[in-house]
Amino acid sequence: MKKYIIANWKSNKNLSEVAFWLNNFPNEPESLQVLHGLEIILAPPYPFLVSAQEIIEERHLPIKLAVQDLSAFGKGAYTGEVSAFNLQDLDIQYAILGHSERRRFLKESDQLIADKIAEALSWHIKPILCLDKPNFASQARFLSRQILPKLFLAYEPVTAIGSGQAEDAHNLSLIKKELYSIYQVKTLIYGGSVNAANVGSFLQVCDGVLLGGASLELSDFVNLLFTASESLIQL
Ligand code: 13P
Repeated sequence: MKKYIIANWKSNKNLSEVAFWLNNFPNEPESLQVLHGLEIILAPPYPFLVSAQEIIEERHLPIKLAVQDLSAFGKGAYTGEVSAFNLQDLDIQYAILGHSERRRFLKESDQLIADKIAEALSWHIKPILCLDKPNFASQARFLSRQILPKLFLAYEPVTAIGSGQAEDAHNLSLIKKELYSIYQVKTLIYGGSVNAANVGSFLQVCDGVLLGGASLELSDFVNLLFTASESLIQL
């Protein structure tokens, strides 16, 4: 079973920075061999999805694409929204939904996020639902029992995001039990101040990690990938 390493670039980078990052991502056979135990997922800002996909295809990079949000509506008169229909001819396999920054700054509600999840699933886009502490029991109230097993759950305590104060891996194993009893999900991702030094401990407990800051500089990210791969050998 592969471990998921998800890079959420948030609103960082411009087109030339995106091109630099992807054009320099290692793709020689030795590196690909080391990375084969990882499912690497990149969520760039919307405007860069097309060029990111082109470079990924051209260079045969082992990277899948995600969006950082998805409209709850279909195609139509929804100014400023990006619908799953808009993305149809791109190879978008995942959608990060309900990130705490969207809940906080854009006032996204649990109901709206549940609608986005339903829309993603109807287009065969895998939702990565972000939850934070201490709200995770109530954050699923609009999700049906049939939908829950189809999600990836990303546990991202707000205090850990961008603070350098990652959750303790032992606490995380307790939280994992609690989350599994509420949500019956199959895949649990951890996010919040993950870096090359702590990624191995999180991969022992979870199915993957969601990264913000540590995914921005290519050299940091590649270092983290190699460390993550090494940690899997010990599992
Ligand atoms: P940091 O890795 O910068 O803490 O961000 C985590 C996050 O919010 C990923 O979605």
